[in-house]
Amino acid sequence: MMTAQPSPSQVGLALPPGRPPRCLVFDSGVGGLSVLREIQALLPDVDITYAADDAGFPYGAWMERKLVDHVMDLMGQLIATHRPDLVVIACNTASTLVLPALRQRFDTPFVGTVPAIKTAASTTRSRVVAVLATPGTVKRDYTRALIDTYASHLDIALIGAQSLATLAEAYMRGEPISDQAVKAEIRPCFRDIRGRKTDTIVLGCTHYPFLTDTFKRLAPWSVTWIDPAPAIARRVAALLGRDERAPAMPQRPGRAVFTTGTIPPALMPTLAKFSLAA
Ligand code: DGL
Repeated sequence: MMTAQPSPSQVGLALPPGRPPRCLVFDSGVGGLSVLREIQALLPDVDITYAADDAGFPYGAWMERKLVDHVMDLMGQLIATHRPDLVVIACNTASTLVLPALRQRFDTPFVGTVPAIKTAASTTRSRVVAVLATPGTVKRDYTRALIDTYASHLDIALIGAQSLATLAEAYMRGEPISDQAVKAEIRPCFRDIRGRKTDTIVLGCTHYPFLTDTFKRLAPWSVTWIDPAPAIARRVAALLGRDERAPAMPQRPGRAVFTTGTIPPALMPTLAKFSLAA
């Protein structure tokens, strides 16, 4: 089975002195900003490049073989251009598929983002859990393997949402999104199995944490929503040898690169909020 975490040889990076660590955070779109904000909260001095493959968005519908080749090529270009010390694949749809190939080809260490099924298994009381993710992530062998390893004793529903990532992109551009559309996507997560109700929902796509308030408002009952981003940020901090919270300091400005070459003007305020310039 693939591992979500770097191998032991990747732990404790030898970083060159005299400059801040460089971290590349990658997603198909702006969802990875949900991971970036946790990394920034722990490590404000890290030099961050945020790369969004908006030309390839959404990844959820890609054929697996094509997506592997595509991400491998793109990562080669991004690593050559930005020379990161560490890459965070802030995308479940890519991580659950491409991490082993990335680790094999590149020397740069990778931290992946995969559905927090292990956390859900320790949180649920009703043993009825849902994984809300893209259609790609719910189909992956990797996701099935996580369930077999950590959650075979639970009733788990794998819900592949067709349009939630796209709705989250619209939301991040300040556009209104339809409650009905969101409701239809989250509804299958809520099950009642002879009185045992879903009590935990894993946010298996980095776009979804930006919609958590909407999810909570539209949910038929209250559940625990699990966002893996804080754990990913802690992993990044550990790899950079920063187990302690950094003293309060201003956020180091970073940069955003979009593969279409054009950042939609409506996204600029959001990027500015994360101290990212074009
Ligand atoms: N943010 C991505 C994820 O975590 C995927 C969105 C998409 O491209 O479909 O899976």
